[in-house]
Parts: sequence; C-alpha cells; structure tokens
Amino acid sequence: MRLSDCHNFHDFRTLAKRRLPGPIFNYIDGAADDEVTYRRNSESFERCDLVPNILRGVQSVDMSVTVMGQKLATPFYCSPTALQRLFHHDGERAVAAAASKLGTMFGVSSLGTVSMEELRKTYETPQCYQFYFHKDRGLNRAMMQRAKESGINVMMLTVDSITGGNRERDLRTGFSIPFRLTLGGITQFALKPMWGINFVTHEKFKLPQLDAHIDMGGDTMSIGRYFTEMLDPSMTWDDVAEMVKLWDGQFCLKGVMSVEDAKRAASIGCSGIVLSNHGGRQLDGSRAAFDQLAEVVDAVGDRLDVIIDGGIQRGTHILKALSLGAKAVGLGRAYLYPLAAAGQPGVERALGLLRTEVERGMKLMGVSSLDQLSRNNLRFR
Ligand code: LAC
Repeated sequence: MRLSDCHNFHDFRTLAKRRLPGPIFNYIDGAADDEVTYRRNSESFERCDLVPNILRGVQSVDMSVTVMGQKLATPFYCSPTALQRLFHHDGERAVAAAASKLGTMFGVSSLGTVSMEELRKTYETPQCYQFYFHKDRGLNRAMMQRAKESGINVMMLTVDSITGGNRERDLRTGFSIPFRLTLGGITQFALKPMWGINFVTHEKFKLPQLDAHIDMGGDTMSIGRYFTEMLDPSMTWDDVAEMVKLWDGQFCLKGVMSVEDAKRAASIGCSGIVLSNHGGRQLDGSRAAFDQLAEVVDAVGDRLDVIIDGGIQRGTHILKALSLGAKAVGLGRAYLYPLAAAGQPGVERALGLLRTEVERGMKLMGVSSLDQLSRNNLRFR
C-alpha cells in the first residue's frame, strides 16, 4: 500500500498501522476505558442527515471561515497534539508545512516536539498554542510570556485533562515517555526496524516547550509524572479568568462540554471554546461534541466562537457541524495517521482530500459560502 492508495481516513490509518511500532500506533489509535466515546464521536454524525438545496448557482465555492479572529482558507484546522516526532521524524514541521500550504491553522502542544518559536518563525499561517495549567504559577506566566513573544495567535487552554485518562492499550504495551515498554511492547518495536532507524538517525527527541522549564528529556520525568506532579487539579474558573486577562488576546478553552461552562467561558472573556472529549481519550462515556453542539451554540453562539473536535473523518461531517452552528472543526487522528503514514506529503494529501470533500459537499448542498449552511439543512433521525 502506497500513499497514492490512500483515499480516506481509514486508508491512512491502515498505512500508519503498517509503518508504526504497535505501542506508538496504539497510543494514537487508542482511547480511554472501553473506548465507547471514541466510537461514538464518528457515529454521532451518522444520526444526522443532510438536506441539500438545488439549482443555486455553485460554480465556485468559498470555503474560508473566520474563527477567533483568524481567517482560515478551510473550515478545519490541525488541533495541537503531543509527541508528533515519534510518529514521523519531521513531526510538527510536516504538519505545520501542510497546514500552511492549505492556509489553515495548526496547533503546537505543550508536549510538542518542535519549538513553538521555530514554527512561528517559519510559517505565516495562524498558530495556536495548547497550554496546560501548572501548579507553579510562575511557570504558567513564563510560558504565556514565551508564547506571546513568539507571536502565537490563539492561546488554547486544555481543561479536560485535569488527570490522565485510562488508556488501557498503553498499559498493555508500556507506552510512556521515556519508554518503559513491556516485553510485548519491545517485540512490537523490533517488528518495525525502519521506524527505529529513522528515530535514531534524526534529531534527538525532545520536548522544547517544556525542557526550558522542566527536565523532561532524560529519565527524570515521564509524561505520566508530568500530569500527576506538575499540573494543577485544583485549577478553577478564577485561575482561568486571570489567565485570560494576562493573555489579553484570542483565548480559547478546549474541552468544554456543558452549557453552564460555555456560559462561564463567555463571561470571563474567552473568545472561543472547543467542545471536545479529547478524542475519547479522557472521560469514557462522555457525550460526543457534535451531539452537544446545538444547545451550546444556542446559549453562547452570539458571544464566542464555538468549535468542535472528535471523530471528524469526512467533509460532510464538517458541513454538518457548520450547519449546526460550529465556526470551525479541529482534526486530530485525521492528520496524525497521514503524518505517520508518509510525513508532510501524507498530511498534505489528507488535508487536500478533505478540502476536496468540503468543496464537493458544498456544491451538492447548494451553498457557495459556508455561512449559507443552517439548521434547515439538517434533520436528526
Ligand atoms: C493525549 C494527551 C497528551 O491525549 O493530549 O495523549
């Protein structure tokens, strides 16, 4: 199977599975507990039907959206995800380059493997920074300052990871940073020697957002310990309100699900919220963001931008989300499998296919700009 054989999400997943050692593939592919929420995320789109209009003159369509002050050429962007250079040696560089070519936003994670400054200097396209709230308030201020100075466009605070999700696939393989593999996990690495050769012959793996602050490079701190020891589970709305003021720019909360919280986010001055269950990786049994979208948009859609992520695999999923009132959607696995499958050309191909699907979908729906989509275009089963 080659890149040119990949026509959709499932094809890229298959190719990624062939290329990656099992423990790494399962880190991306896995989710929490019984992975019910993970499955539900994509299924939620199937309970909703599109109702097209015809004969509307759609020779050309405008796929751009403006979200959190950023003009994006497509209604989807690459959400921040951790550890990308484990999946392909170019990691964030490949994703940022592909997003930039398309004219959309990409995110850099606190657990990213290329520095936010390098990416900000290299690409013009909007860049968000995914932030965790640390116990050390000085560290939080320093990281915000660093993001500000580097020219980050949107600050995105993850609020659904107050503790780590129960990822049982990772427990079985021993996936952690640094690696503490089980015997089974080691065997799975041995089956993919090309991955190992690429890993050791490229730039040393590091976490540049954190290593200025925390010694994460060596054996001293694992990601598990980072979550349990460094992050602050006592974080409250008052802490976030302070951060929003300090940032004084586009500020978004990722992982909001309830109407009540969406209203609080609006009242403390957030410019956006991402309805998200973290790709099913945190609270299993949590509702799909798409199912929760209408009531949140009704409550706060006039005060901030509502975005969703989770389970988006098709252009039509994106059109459904926008018809319901989302301003944009975030992708995770939908660009991570292509990254693992083929680096930058893989991500470019996946994003390009999705753009073509959105364009085709808009024409078939009878709209020439995305703001023409409305709930009149949807019926729920
Ligand atoms: C995860 C965290 C790191 O989902 O965002 O693995």
